[in-house]
Amino acid sequence: MSHSRPTVITGNWKMYKTIDEAVRFVKELAPLVQESTAQVYLAVPFTAIHATAEVAKSTKIVIGAQNMNDASEGAFTGEIAARMLKEAGAKFVILGHSERRKIFHETNSFINKKVKRALIEGLQPILCVGETKEEREQNKTAEVLESQISQSLADLSAEQLASLILAYEPVWAIGTDLAATPEMAQKEHEFCRSIVAKNWGSDFAEHLVIQYGGSVKPDNAKALLEQPDIDGLLVGGASLSVDSFSKIVNSQKI
Ligand code: PGA
Repeated sequence: MSHSRPTVITGNWKMYKTIDEAVRFVKELAPLVQESTAQVYLAVPFTAIHATAEVAKSTKIVIGAQNMNDASEGAFTGEIAARMLKEAGAKFVILGHSERRKIFHETNSFINKKVKRALIEGLQPILCVGETKEEREQNKTAEVLESQISQSLADLSAEQLASLILAYEPVWAIGTDLAATPEMAQKEHEFCRSIVAKNWGSDFAEHLVIQYGGSVKPDNAKALLEQPDIDGLLVGGASLSVDSFSKIVNSQKI
């Protein structure tokens, strides 16, 4: 199958790195990935967005956030708005990560509101979907992926979703060192693309970048990227070190 999708590798730092550590990381990473054909995204903690976005300006690294609130502004103590992220220099935002869904009880309908807000404010959403171990064991993977995708992206047209990136992250593979095999991931990516095609048309689905996430390391990145429907990677633990993240970015798709 031939397609013209870019390869996008996103590092998700979660709640790691101070401003100082983050800036040093971006300075060290930049020259190592400058020649890569992949697009390089880093989702940093809120506090580090502004400083890293400044340093990243002259590089190919794109800085983004890991979460946001759905409201434009308001009395929501401790929350952060899309336009604040944008002003700080974020270009994208991860939404619906399984840690947000599980620990902070985020629902598909709440995530849908966040996706809408991100798009209104011009932030590129990376929407995460994925089944838990129990759901896979109960053969509910397809059902879960279908409802997460259709509900999190409800009421949005293909045109509105033009900048969207989808990330398939099986929950059982996150932070466990038990990555999905490339074949297993390919099967689910193909399924996600078919759901997207059914809801938003095959042309949109063919152009949609779908990242795989869950225990991506330098030694499995290439095999995952070689799969026809895997267009990028969402990397947690292995994005915290310049050495392993630069190796992953430089595992080229053939
Ligand atoms: P991991 O995390 O690479 O540490 O498994 C992936 C993620 O949570 O996005």
